[in-house]
Amino acid sequence: MKVLIINGSPLLNGNSSRLINEMNNIFNKEGVEVDQYQIGSKAIRGCMACNYCYEHGHCVFKDDVNDLAKRFEDSDGLVIVSPVYYGSANGSIISLLDRLFYSSHFDKRFKVGAAFAIARRAGTTATFDELNKYFTINQMPIASGRYWNNGFGREQGQIEKDEEGLQNARVVTRNMVFLMKAIKDAKEKYGLPEKEDTTFTHFIK
Ligand SMILES: Cc1cc2nc3c(=O)[nH]c(=O)nc-3n(C[C@H](O)[C@H](O)[C@H](O)COP(=O)(O)O)c2cc1C
Repeated sequence: MKVLIINGSPLLNGNSSRLINEMNNIFNKEGVEVDQYQIGSKAIRGCMACNYCYEHGHCVFKDDVNDLAKRFEDSDGLVIVSPVYYGSANGSIISLLDRLFYSSHFDKRFKVGAAFAIARRAGTTATFDELNKYFTINQMPIASGRYWNNGFGREQGQIEKDEEGLQNARVVTRNMVFLMKAIKDAKEKYGLPEKEDTTFTHFIK
C-alpha cells in the first residue's frame, strides 16, 4: 500500500513539512509506503489549455508533472498539503494540480484523498475546500478528521504549538490508512462499481 504526498510549500522545513512528518510517523507504523514530493522553489507553470494531453496522454511541458502522474497512478492515496497564500492554496500547487489532474487520464476512482491547509491565521477553510475539489471531481473518497484540516503557524516550525492541528493530522492519517485498506479489500471482494461513459454537456444545447 502506497501514498503520494505533495507538499506545495517552498520552505523545506516549513510548517507544511512539520505536519507531514506527523503523518509519516503513522504511515510508517502502519506499513504504508510514502512517496513524497515537494514543490520547493521549482518553477511550475500553469495549464495553457492546449489539450496536447488529450492526444498524447501526458502534459506538453517537460517538468515534474508527468513523472508525478506515474507516481500518483501507482498510489492508493494522495495527500495534498498547501500553505495558504492570500486566502487560497499557493500558486505553485494550483498550477501543478491543474496540470496533474487534467493531463493524466488513468482511473483515479477510489484512490483516497486528504488535503491540509496551513496558515498563519485565516483562509484555511476556503483552501481546504479548494483542494478537496480535485478529489471530488474524480470519484476519490476523502479521509476526514475531527476538524476541517488545517494547521497554524507563521514562522517555520511554529505549527509545533498547534497541538489540535497536529492531533487532527494524526486522526486523518489513521482514517486514511483504514479507508485504503478497506477499499483494497472491497475491490477484491466486489470489484469497482460499474463505469458509465461520460456525458459531457456545456449548458449550451
Ligand atoms: C505570499 C504569502 C501569502 C500569505 N497569505 C496568508 C493568508 O492569506 N492567510 C494566512 O493566515 N497566512 C498567510 N501567509 C502565511 C503562511 O500561510 C504561513 O506562514 C504558513 O505557515 C506557511 O506554511 P509553510 O511554512 O509550510 O510554507 C502567507 C504567506 C505568504 C508568503
